[in-house]
Amino acid sequence: MSEQTLSNLSTETRRFEPPADLAAQANVTEEAYDRAASDSEAYWAEAADRLDWGQKWDQVLDWSNPPFAKWFVGGTLNAAVNCADRHVAAGRGDKVALHWVGEPEGDRRDITYAELTDLVCQAANALTELGVGKGDRVAIYMPMIPEVAVAMLACARVGAIHTVVFGGFSADALASRIVDCEAKLVITADGGFRRGSASALKPAVDEALLKSEVDKIEKVLVVRRTGQDVEWQEGRDVWWHDVVDRQPTEHEAEMHDSEHPLFVMYTSGSTGKPKGILHTTGGYLTGTSFTHWAVFDLKDDDVYWCTADVGWITGHSYMVYGPLANGTTQVMFEGTPEKGSWWKVIEDYKVSIFYTAPTAIRTFMKQGREIPDGYDMSSLRILGSVGEPINPEAYIWYREVIGGNRCPVVDTWWQTETGQIMISPLPGVTAGKPGSAMRALPGIAADVVDDEAKPVPNGSGGYLVLTEPWPAMLRTLWGDDQRFKDTYWSRWPGLYFAGDGAKKDDDGDIWLLGRVDDVMNVSGHRLSTTEIESALVSHPKVAEAAVVGATDDTTGQAVVAFVILRESAVAEADEQGEGSDLVAELRAHVAHEIGPIAKPRSIMIVPELPKTRSGKIMRRLLKDVAEHREVGDVTTLADSSVMDLIKQQESTTT
Ligand code: PRX
Repeated sequence: MSEQTLSNLSTETRRFEPPADLAAQANVTEEAYDRAASDSEAYWAEAADRLDWGQKWDQVLDWSNPPFAKWFVGGTLNAAVNCADRHVAAGRGDKVALHWVGEPEGDRRDITYAELTDLVCQAANALTELGVGKGDRVAIYMPMIPEVAVAMLACARVGAIHTVVFGGFSADALASRIVDCEAKLVITADGGFRRGSASALKPAVDEALLKSEVDKIEKVLVVRRTGQDVEWQEGRDVWWHDVVDRQPTEHEAEMHDSEHPLFVMYTSGSTGKPKGILHTTGGYLTGTSFTHWAVFDLKDDDVYWCTADVGWITGHSYMVYGPLANGTTQVMFEGTPEKGSWWKVIEDYKVSIFYTAPTAIRTFMKQGREIPDGYDMSSLRILGSVGEPINPEAYIWYREVIGGNRCPVVDTWWQTETGQIMISPLPGVTAGKPGSAMRALPGIAADVVDDEAKPVPNGSGGYLVLTEPWPAMLRTLWGDDQRFKDTYWSRWPGLYFAGDGAKKDDDGDIWLLGRVDDVMNVSGHRLSTTEIESALVSHPKVAEAAVVGATDDTTGQAVVAFVILRESAVAEADEQGEGSDLVAELRAHVAHEIGPIAKPRSIMIVPELPKTRSGKIMRRLLKDVAEHREVGDVTTLADSSVMDLIKQQESTTT
């Protein structure tokens, strides 16, 4: 992040005190910070007590073999029972769990906790019939329909480990995840609705399963959502409505060990291969359900809406596991937001807690306040933000225009790896500062350190670290303990390095400054520069590629690629004058290899890339070009004239 931004942040002086009535009835108050600091294990044990356990744990935390943590050791529980059955047993079976809003106008469905329990039991019985048992891996590649939550909970119920792959990812991305975790079943749908039309999913599954390395999949369970034609492989493909609907609604749930794996979620790292983040049962469910209750000050009559897709960690922790474990009524939204469509949902369902990403807020800001002003959003009482730093202007707009100046904004910092929210204001406690995630939640220990791992003084910047284990922390990377240690714990022994830069202000409150590694954040989605570079290089016309994340007003960062063509391709392009076709072809290639979200905003075809004498690409200089700045210091380049060539190229193509 630039010096300019740093100084903008430090001049931000606005404060928003918690509303008095909210503070008076808040779930968590100031005293929690001290109580948790004096005995964090007792604090988390109390949080775990909010769940139903088969067997109580003998030990809260086993940290005898760091960085491999065990939480609630000896305890047993079932995540699905906690998210469904127990609410029915408590007499709340008629409470709505999901107000599902499908994309085609009027396609809506309400599912109560009693209905959810029945559906999960049926799906669990179906998994057993399909030969899926405890410890097996199941890949889920689905649109935002209730069956996706049912499928996840059914896996959890039988102890199978799900890996949900975002429906916008390509067949290749799906295949590499299936191979890495050796899944034996894929659950998918014929398609989903996006921007007014049916968009197919099943063909990507078929394509993924054609690859020779994908050899463990036995069955594909397919939900009929759009009704579009699908290819069918007899013996392998089975319809959800044929297999699940006829199952009994009774299912005896086994209590699984607290450390039994719950799911693997793949996320981009700073190298090409996505990392399989492993979360386990007891600690994850404790961390997510407790923070959902604390950070959103959840009350029994709240209507909660998290706009994330279930294919990301936010969808796992704050749409499926956290809220359902808390017996929350929530909205699940299938479509892409058209102008005003979100505000209409808030009006219709009287949503009281709304959780979204800064990139969405910035998009709505551009469309103008007249649109949200046309809806009654007086039901809202708390607003959340996640995924990337929220700039003060977006925070203020969100607070004023969406929250009517009454609703506290909680800017929640966390990661796929942390599983749960780590740094955030508490709505009944914190006087919020626009743009700051404020301080670590009670029971969480975070700091900002310098290169020598020394905590920086207030008013200074450095690296964000977590200094104590927490319940929902990742346990390892699937099948790769060494990479887990190397990636997160090796920079400074004993400290978890989050990969983010941060600053402590004069009060010691934390301001996140973005990633310090080769990970980009585009619309709150994590993308690796290396992964996109290797996708580009896999195109037959590309010799070399370098990718940078350039600042973008709407998406936070945007992917900008610099590409050197193979000689044969240069000659061909010169002959046919097909520069722009080639760029379109390369963008489409990246979409095919990874998914449309990874498509570069722009691709520059260049004769050379700036490299140091040891051959390392100096992305810093390319970033200067991508952000239309004066190019910085070029003295360490092997050939300093390269940047002149690139700048020349830029001026002829833009
Ligand atoms: O850089 C931080 C940013 O998103 C990264 C984590 O991405 P992911 O694992 O995909 O999880 C996103 C949803 C939790 C972090 O390393 N990030 C997330 N939330 C914030 C944030 N940056 C600033 N402020 C936030 N509130």
